[in-house]
Amino acid sequence: MQQGQSRSSLFGERRVAPSILSADFARLGAQVREVLAAGALIIHVDVMDGHFVPPITLGPLIAGAIADLVHDAGGAIDVHLMIERPERQVQEFARAGADNITIHVEATAHVHYALARIKEEGVSAGAAVCPATPGPALCEVADDLLDVALCMTVDPGWGAQELIRATLGKLERMRGMLPEHVALEADGGVHRDTAADCVAAGANLLVAGSAVFESDDPGAAYLEIATAAAAAQAR
Ligand code: DX5
Ligand code: ZN
Repeated sequence: MQQGQSRSSLFGERRVAPSILSADFARLGAQVREVLAAGALIIHVDVMDGHFVPPITLGPLIAGAIADLVHDAGGAIDVHLMIERPERQVQEFARAGADNITIHVEATAHVHYALARIKEEGVSAGAAVCPATPGPALCEVADDLLDVALCMTVDPGWGAQELIRATLGKLERMRGMLPEHVALEADGGVHRDTAADCVAAGANLLVAGSAVFESDDPGAAYLEIATAAAAAQAR
């Protein structure tokens, strides 16, 4: 198996993905090393453009800056594009070392085209829905192009928000309608007390930002959430 293939297979496993959105950027490499050492293998990179969502955050330079570190540990970079017209940026993030690139269905009229461009770059392709967007928006592309379905469990744009409970039912409905090979990612408001609910609702990937990186010990915080997720029963 090629290295790239084994990295993309991580997205089908039950995993907690620390989001560097809440990291201390003056010590980014050290913080990523801490969570990798604690067992994290998927590092989530939240890209925001100041248009699709108000904040401006990270670009390919940051993804590229941690890519070798993550790949050398056997891990994968999960890029979440909260940007308008994401299809224009796919190549740059793939070249920076992304292993999965997720676009928002609300951010382009050309979801099929964008996913096809991601697959063309040889990386895993994801599509995301905001809390108010019905999950079936992903169905038409699920069979052919989709590797990861991301359900926002908070409004996109900011870390440290409370999980919107109604999205748990939505996760369950999405799991029920997506083909088995498509991973389901819950993003936002995940911490040690909500991780099990997300797994029970059918998510296999749980993004956790503030709960990991706002802790004094990100490695221990990651482990606590990963342990709660591992112990949870998927329905
Ligand atoms: C929000 C981002 C999330 C964010 C989650 O728009 O997509 O990935 O980092 O942060 P927490 O885990 O703090 O809710
Ligand atoms: Zn995200």
